[in-house]
This record gives sequence, structure tokens and C-alpha cells, in this order.
Amino acid sequence: MNRKSFLVGIDVGTAEVRVALGEPRPDGTINIIGLGLSPSDGVRKGVIVDLEKTVESIFTAVEEAERMAGIKIDSAYIALKGLNIELINNRGVVAVTAEDREIHEEDLERVMQASRVVALPMDREIVDIIPREFIVDGFDGIKDPVGMLGVRLEVDAQIVTSLITSLHNLLRCVNRAGVNIDGLVLQAMANSEVSLSSDEKDLGVFLIDIGSGTTEIALFQYGKLQQLKVFPIGGDHITTDLAAGLRINHYKAEELKKEHGTALLSMAESEPKIEIKTVGSHELRLVSERELSSYIEPRVEEIFQITREEMAKMGCPYLPPAGAVLRGGVSRMKGIVEVARHTFESDQVRTAEFDVVGIKNPTYSTVVGLLYYVQRHQPRMHIQEQSKKVKKGGPSLWQRIKDWLTDIVD
Ligand SMILES: Nc1ncnc2c1ncn2[C@@H]1O[C@H](COP(=O)(O)OP(=O)(O)OP(=O)(O)O)[C@@H](O)[C@H]1O
Ligand SMILES: [Mg+2]
Repeated sequence: MNRKSFLVGIDVGTAEVRVALGEPRPDGTINIIGLGLSPSDGVRKGVIVDLEKTVESIFTAVEEAERMAGIKIDSAYIALKGLNIELINNRGVVAVTAEDREIHEEDLERVMQASRVVALPMDREIVDIIPREFIVDGFDGIKDPVGMLGVRLEVDAQIVTSLITSLHNLLRCVNRAGVNIDGLVLQAMANSEVSLSSDEKDLGVFLIDIGSGTTEIALFQYGKLQQLKVFPIGGDHITTDLAAGLRINHYKAEELKKEHGTALLSMAESEPKIEIKTVGSHELRLVSERELSSYIEPRVEEIFQITREEMAKMGCPYLPPAGAVLRGGVSRMKGIVEVARHTFESDQVRTAEFDVVGIKNPTYSTVVGLLYYVQRHQPRMHIQEQSKKVKKGGPSLWQRIKDWLTDIVD
């Protein structure tokens, strides 16, 4: 496959593995030509617990996208959940080398590399560097200094670090599924590409992704990601509550939740017209949406209460001016916005619209957002270094990751 013409993304979620293959268009949009989806059997609460099953899920989803596009995938960008992630702000400084003092791409590369010099504990590794702003001869707030004149170039960068073990497991699974790694992108950054406007990111907004096993809270302000937190509660917990409360199996509870679930009790219909069969009984029983909601609402409230506590720890006891945007599978539930508005004591809550051209299924929004993120931001950073392939066979996987990371530093 011509790697220059295509971008591939993989999102290993708790519920599903998603793959998207797209062709960047000159107008900045991406023509999605391959999509793949597979149940994610080896992931619990956002953590890989079964390598073999995860490899299989990735392999199946990749194969599906390959079949749809008629193209062989050999490398991909990977979405990285905020779990075990820490953000460190750091500065890098270099002198501009050209005699005429014009800032070139190479100066940008050097200053980004200078910003990587931070003391890290043994169990953590740098996975990405996001430039927050450039400063030329003391003038700050510069987004793209290439072509400007200056003597001293500084970058205010956000260093993204991950626990080595969880990163190792994810990369190992992708590699074993026959795919090399082009780079890693924070899921929150990918999501923000398709779910937030730049005005919202400037004013201040929380992007809340309620998935199957986790809830991720990302605070954007002044156009940048400021804080990130993940806690291990999501839609699976709602399903488990429903299954225990109604005494039905997990599969049926999941189905009922998606079809009839209402997050706000007072919005749910009280007429008993949904048929269920309790475990160990052959008789059908009729339940109302309201009865389902009596099990759902407390868990949704708990998710938002924990979210609000985390927001307060981030220094925002009240929502910032652009409020909160809900996304992830659970955000599709009726009444969810109302519960969030009540818990956050603000009307500034909406659900994310997924209106990326041509894709109807919102489950792909992270992986499509990832392609947009790569298209818009990564090339300027260190794609060249990151796209060095992890060769099959040869040294151990971790050694290869180390080499690859060291490549970026050198
Ligand atoms: N219409 C719906 N109503 C309620 N819940 C839904 C609906 N659609 C999906 N969900 C729930 O959303 C969850 C899946 O969300 P999502 O696809 O965002 O998770 P994921 O990305 O795989 O998981 P995670 O981000 O936690 O690793 C499941 O619990 C599913 O039951
Ligand atoms: Mg997710």
C-alpha cells in the first residue's frame, strides 16, 4: 500500500475495536474508504486483560477494513486512552540556525526535541509531544513559526507520558495482529477534532466520553488540552445493574438498555409494555421504561457526580463558559443531557454530533477523529521519525519500541 496516500487508525475500546482507512483530500477532509469493527473480547474497563483475544479482535477489524478498501494495511496510528496517561508541560529552547534568521522546519524539529528533556520515573515513557505555543524572541502565542524571522525559538509543549506496561500491551497486540505503528494519538485529541469547535476549545469546555468500561474527562481551554482524567465506570455498569435488578441475563439487559433505556426517571414512560423473562422462570413479565430507569438513573447520576468531583479537582467546580459536551456510546441514551445538566447545575451541556462526511455509525467517531488529527497536526511534529517501521522478527518488541522512541529523541 502507498503509505503516503493513506492514513489508518485503530481504536481498541472496551466494547469494540474500530479501524478506519482514509485518503486525505487536498481540501483537508478525509475520504474514508475502509472501516472495520470487531467485538473487543480481551479488554475490561479500558485495560487489555487477554492478549490473544485482543490480537484476534484487532486482526478481524483490520481485515474487514482491508476488504472494504481493497488495500493491505501494514501500519496504523493508534488511539491512546487517558488511562495511565500523565501530561507534563515543558519548554524547549534553540537558537535559529539559518544565517538570514528565517525559521525552518528543522528548527521546529530541534525545538520539539529539546522540549523532550524531562526527568521521568523508570516506569513511564514519553508517547507524544503536543506543541501548545511557540515563542519567537520572547513573543508568545505563535501557532506556526515557520517562515518567521527570529534568533531564539522556544516551544511550550505538552509531554504525554504513559505507563510502560499498558503501552507495551497495546503495541504488542497491534504488532501481533500484523500491523506496524505509525504513531500514538491521545483519544481525547482525536475526539476533540470531530466533537468540539475551536471556539469551544478557546472558551473552555469539558469533553466527557462515557464508554463501555470507562469515562474520560478532558478539559480544553485557550484552544488546548489542559487536563485529562479517566475513571473505570461506564455503560457496562448500567447493564450489570439492570441485569441484577430485573434478574435477566447480561445480553438481554444490554439490548433493553440500548432500546428502551432512559437516564432520567421522570422522562420515562410508566406503561408496562416491555416483555422480559426473568432468569429461572418461563413466564413473560411486562415492565415499563420507568422500571428500567429506576435502575439506570442512579448509575448515570453516580457517573456525573464522580465527573463533577474530578472537574473540581481540576480547578473547575463549575462548568467553564462553553460547558460540557457528552460523547461515547452512553451519551446516546435518552435523558442523559438532562441528568448531566442537573448534576453540573448548568444548561451548557450538549451531546456531540458526529457529522463527519459519509459515516453514519458514531462508534467510529474516535478512529475517524484520529485520522483528522493526524492529517491536521501530526505531520508537522514527528511523523517522519514515528513512521519508521517496527520490523517483524528480530529484537524483542520492547527493544523495538525503545529503539523507536529513542529514534524520536535523537
Ligand atoms: N443507544 C444507547 N443507549 C445507551 N447506551 C448505549 C447506546 N449505544 C451504546 N451504548 C453503550 O455504550 C457503551 C459503548 O460505548 P463506546 O463504544 O463509546 O465504548 P468503548 O469506546 O468501546 O469503551 P471504552 O471507551 O470504555 O474503552 C456500551 O456500554 C453500550 O451499551
Ligand atoms: Mg471509547
